[in-house]
Amino acid sequence: MTFTEDTVSVVIGGTSGIGHAVADRLAARPGRLVTASRATGLDVVDAEAVAAFFDDLGSVDHVIFTAGSQAPGGPLAGIDLAAAHAAFDVKFWGAVAVAQAAARHIRPGGTLTLTSGFLARRATPGALVKTAMNAALEASTKVLARELAPVRVNVVSPGLTDTEAYAGMSDDARRSMLDGAAARLPAGRVAQPGDVAAGFLFVIDTPSVTGAVIDIDGGALIA
Ligand SMILES: NC(=O)c1ccc[n+]([C@@H]2O[C@H](COP(=O)([O-])OP(=O)(O)OC[C@H]3O[C@@H](n4cnc5c(N)ncnc54)[C@H](OP(=O)(O)O)[C@@H]3O)[C@@H](O)[C@H]2O)c1
Repeated sequence: MTFTEDTVSVVIGGTSGIGHAVADRLAARPGRLVTASRATGLDVVDAEAVAAFFDDLGSVDHVIFTAGSQAPGGPLAGIDLAAAHAAFDVKFWGAVAVAQAAARHIRPGGTLTLTSGFLARRATPGALVKTAMNAALEASTKVLARELAPVRVNVVSPGLTDTEAYAGMSDDARRSMLDGAAARLPAGRVAQPGDVAAGFLFVIDTPSVTGAVIDIDGGALIA
């Protein structure tokens, strides 16, 4: 798509990781870029705040949602249901709240791009919450692509990506997790945030792409 000085792009979750990499790339283009997260005062769990945020912005062109990264894992018997609900509140219901609020303001020719994750389509014991949440987002994307047309709605599905989401791990544990994953992946590497950001720019820039799931996972789904 053509970016002009009037183009407005919004990255919800743009203060860290994949969203930050998307924001970096959009910042190099003409137009206005707005990034938001709890660090800037917007919690996507608060649907009224999300609606007010978009009402304040007015017309927008490209909305990217990358917020959320924590979700409880482990076998069914031990799943922390409160943490599972909280994860859905941010990543799934937060995305729905953003879609609902943004839809009133996205100009013709605009886009909405959500984020899922490779576990959506890879049956992995211990990953029920992430699988369900990401699969729900992928299914919702296709419905929204029909409902909101001609606004184009897509979802980028990352595999393991080296972001601040793993900042809580020790350097050694993080390195060992990333190296182990890279060795198992057909691509032979774990994604960097910029690799995944390229998928967001692809769907924004390609006017025939809507209702699509873009896998950027190093081949995790075929390994
Ligand atoms: N990294 C991976 O390996 C990987 C793999 C598959 C899928 N993904 C998905 O990719 C997306 C981005 O992940 P990432 O690794 O880039 O994570 P990240 O570095 O932790 O960034 C997450 C972003 O979401 C924001 N956020 C979190 N809770 C929020 C809330 N309640 N309201 C508003 N903003 C909120 C954070 O900012 P604040 O803390 O300031 O709110 C931050 O900007 C997530 O959906 C994640 O599930 C990541």
